[in-house]
Order: sequence, then structure tokens, then C-alpha cells
Amino acid sequence: MSASSNASAARAWVEIDLPAIDRNVGRIKQALPPHVRYVAVVKANAYGHGMPEVATRLLQAGVDCFAVANVAEAANLREVGHDADILLLSPTLPSELPRALALGLDITLNSLAEAQALAAAVAKSGLKAKVHVKVDTGMGRAGVWHEQAAELFAFVQAAGFEWRGVFTHFSDADSDAAYTTNQRAIFLKLLERIPAAVRSGLMIHADNSAGLESFSASAPFNAVRVGLMQYGLPPSSGSFLASLRPEPVLSFHARVVLVKDLPAGTAVSYNRTKTLSRPTRVAIVAVGYGDGVPTAASNRGSFLVRGQRCPILGRVTMDQTIVDVTEVPSVVVGDIATILGAQGADRITVAEFCAWSDCIPWEALCTLTQRVQRVYRTDRT
Ligand SMILES: Cc1ncc(COP(=O)(O)O)c(C=O)c1O
Repeated sequence: MSASSNASAARAWVEIDLPAIDRNVGRIKQALPPHVRYVAVVKANAYGHGMPEVATRLLQAGVDCFAVANVAEAANLREVGHDADILLLSPTLPSELPRALALGLDITLNSLAEAQALAAAVAKSGLKAKVHVKVDTGMGRAGVWHEQAAELFAFVQAAGFEWRGVFTHFSDADSDAAYTTNQRAIFLKLLERIPAAVRSGLMIHADNSAGLESFSASAPFNAVRVGLMQYGLPPSSGSFLASLRPEPVLSFHARVVLVKDLPAGTAVSYNRTKTLSRPTRVAIVAVGYGDGVPTAASNRGSFLVRGQRCPILGRVTMDQTIVDVTEVPSVVVGDIATILGAQGADRITVAEFCAWSDCIPWEALCTLTQRVQRVYRTDRT
């Protein structure tokens, strides 16, 4: 979609193409065996896209349940009115457990101590606990270390929790197939420690977007946790995932608020990291690191204005970024600068933005700040 068709009066905004989410979910579901449940990852404000609108659309598109980082995010989802299952991906603090129980969340257990705290909270509240056990098979982050997992499995069964799932998380699925295969093998071996009658009732999951690359229908996996791909970004190029052709969902735009001509030799922006080598027409764009354009893009990135690439001059500042529009002399105040997405025949991709900004795609999306207005496109095209 061209930015110029956007009627937003905002200074800086992201446009979210909700029908693109439908199409992405459809493609991912089609590529998976029908029995596999789709856990839609909507933490961090649905990767910056806006949780309520995106979660509602994901449900309409056919996802089975949600995953979030913490109880506060889950409570936001419940406030929107969703009674779908919500899995907490991170460890839960003892102080958060009563609320997690009251909201009927699927609590992830990462240690024996956490399970004991949950048993105490259950005893106090009289509420039922629904749990998944997370196993660390080589990520070194959340999850019980795999050599200690059997003890936690036994506790969960004895405690009388409703044991709903067991999972692990891959650390390198987008770049190291051998390491991922090893993590998967450790996890599969560990599953044998769970009695078959119990195991057959569990949700068993490991794959995030990048892991889908090697999803095996013959293994006991019956769920996937998808984030990045549903937002239109394949984690690795040239792969099965890229061949699904996910569509970008988000584009990022801001207004030109000033245009002026500066003489050669002028130093531009804080700390004078750029000195103009020629007389230059500059446009000041109402977007900066306070919106989600990192200072790493200073003197490296470009914005699209009137369909042409306009290089960033000097340091990106909190509220404004200066671009060179000498080659686009017709630029006027109010024009749209596109930071991410298409204008005319050109497009700035998230991958390109990340290269300028020294960041990863998840980070580029999640660091779009609250100040940036979210504009939702809802038409079905
Ligand atoms: C535990 C867990 N599962 C799944 C995901 C989704 O990963 P992706 O966005 O790569 O699909 C994440 C993302 O951070 C995660 O932390």
C-alpha cells in the first residue's frame, strides 16, 4: 500500500494491515499438519503492532490460543474480552501467582521452587492451576535445566495441577540446524520420562517461527508458537519459510515538518557528525529515537520521500531526523516520509532497516514507541 493513500493526520504513525495477518496465518496453518495447534505470540504489544486489535484479528484468522510474556500482558488480553487460553512464557513471580490463577492462565513452570510456590497459592486460593513445564535444552534462559526436569515432572503430577503442556525453546533455529537438532533430540528423549498416559494428553511444543523450518510431523509435537512469521517476516531467507511469502503487516511513516536549503560546509545535527559537501536541500522529518528510529541509523539509513531514497544526514535526534532531499526538490511540508514499507516502486524492508540500525527484526518492531500512532487497515482485499 502506498503511504500517500493514508489519510492520517498524525506526525508519525504505523499502519497495520490486518488483512495481511489473515493471509499470513492462513499460509502458516496450511503448511502445518491439521492437528497442530497454533499458539499466537502477542507479547510486547503484539510485537509493537498493538495487542488488542491484532489479537482479535488473529483469533478471527483461526489461531487456537495466545502466548504472552507475563501476567500484566495476559490481563490486558482478558480485558479485551478474550477467553481463549493464554500461556505465560516467562517465569511468574510468587506475588503474581494469585492473579494468574484468578485469570485462569496457563502458567509456565521453570523450576521446582516455582512449582512449590504455585502449590502454596493454589492451597490458599482454592483455584485450579493449569500448567506447562518449560525445559531448558540449551538456551540458558527460562526453563528447568533438562537434567533436572524429571523431578519437576514428578512434582507436577503429585501436586494435582492440571498438566497441560511441556515445551522447550530453540536458541539458534534461524542459523544453526545442528544445534537445533540437538536441542530437539534432548527434549524428545526427556519426553520418555513422562508416563505415556499423561504424555498423550499434553500439548508438546518447541518451534517458533524459525523452528517451523524443520517441523517434523512424525515427532510428537502438536503445537507451535508463532510470532515473527505472522507479522510477515521470515526469520531466514531462501528457506521454506520465505517460500511461504509472508506479507509485511506494518509500515512506518512520518511527516516532513520543515524544508530548507543549507550551504556547503554546514554541520548537521548533534555533535556535527556530518558536514555538507555541497549546497543541500534538507527535510526535517517528525520522527526520531523517541519514536523508534535508532541513532545507529544516523548517516547510514534513508527514508522514502516522494518515492525516492533520501539519506539520513547527521545524528537521529529524539523527535526529528534530517534527510537530504536535494534530488527531490519538490518536497514540501506535510509530505510523507516512509521509514519502513513501500512508497511508489520502492520499499524499505525490515531487514534493510535492521542492517542500518544494528538491530534484529523483533527489536525493530518492539521498539516502536507509544508516541507513534497505530492506524489499522481493516478492509479485506
Ligand atoms: C518462548 C518463545 N516462544 C516463541 C516465540 C516466538 O518466536 P518468533 O517470533 O521467532 O516466532 C518467542 C519469541 O520471543 C519466545 O520467547
